[in-house]
Amino acid sequence: MAKITIAIDGFSSTGKSTLAKQLAKSLGYLYVDTGAMYRAVTLYAMREGLLTDPRELVASLPNIALRFVLNQRSKDAEMYLNNENVEKEIRTLEVSRHVSDISKIAEVRHKLVDIQRQMGKEKGVVMDGRDIGTVVFPDAELKIFMNASSDARAARRYKELLDKGEDVSYADVLANVQKRDHIDSNREVSPLRKAEDAVEFDNTDMGLEEQFERIYNFAQRIIAKTVAQ
Ligand code: DC
Repeated sequence: MAKITIAIDGFSSTGKSTLAKQLAKSLGYLYVDTGAMYRAVTLYAMREGLLTDPRELVASLPNIALRFVLNQRSKDAEMYLNNENVEKEIRTLEVSRHVSDISKIAEVRHKLVDIQRQMGKEKGVVMDGRDIGTVVFPDAELKIFMNASSDARAARRYKELLDKGEDVSYADVLANVQKRDHIDSNREVSPLRKAEDAVEFDNTDMGLEEQFERIYNFAQRIIAKTVAQ
């Protein structure tokens, strides 16, 4: 069966990773969470005191090794930074506060985009992020752009953080979601935008299950069409 590349982009907390994981599982594809990679570089910068020193961070890029390792119990891929499992730490609001500024740095993007292209070169991949359909895989056979109101998105993220035991306020989470959207959409290098050939899905009022069904069926049609070509 021919394999395709599926690119999922969109604003923060639109359910991209939930959808991408489900699609990858159902299709037997590799799932790559590119946000985790930007978060891991941000964590490195935080630990090394390089948040305000992009030049030094760029000089340190060769010292940053990133890889995904499958957790045998949960079957989820987890982010490793220089051989340390940082999956939990990269999801904190503290990392979210800095990640958009680190993601503006062109050299950081170049390094991560190279790794992402390498991971997807055999196709059979579902990758989620901000620039997958526009920059990383502009030839992806299926491109999805996810959206939802900022209130709906902040409410989801707030619940996630509370469930993980973080002590955060809804107002802070909403402010972070809105600020990240602004920076991600307005940066100079590969800003977040919908690729012209992406299909847009808004899930403000739709359950993620229902949305998955629709997108899965859509993906199956594209796969069948690709096989027939
Ligand atoms: O998907 P996420 O919320 O975990 O991503 C965290 C941040 O990383 C996001 O606010 C912007 C950045 N990012 C990016 O610039 N390009 C990507 N392909 C993925 C994430």
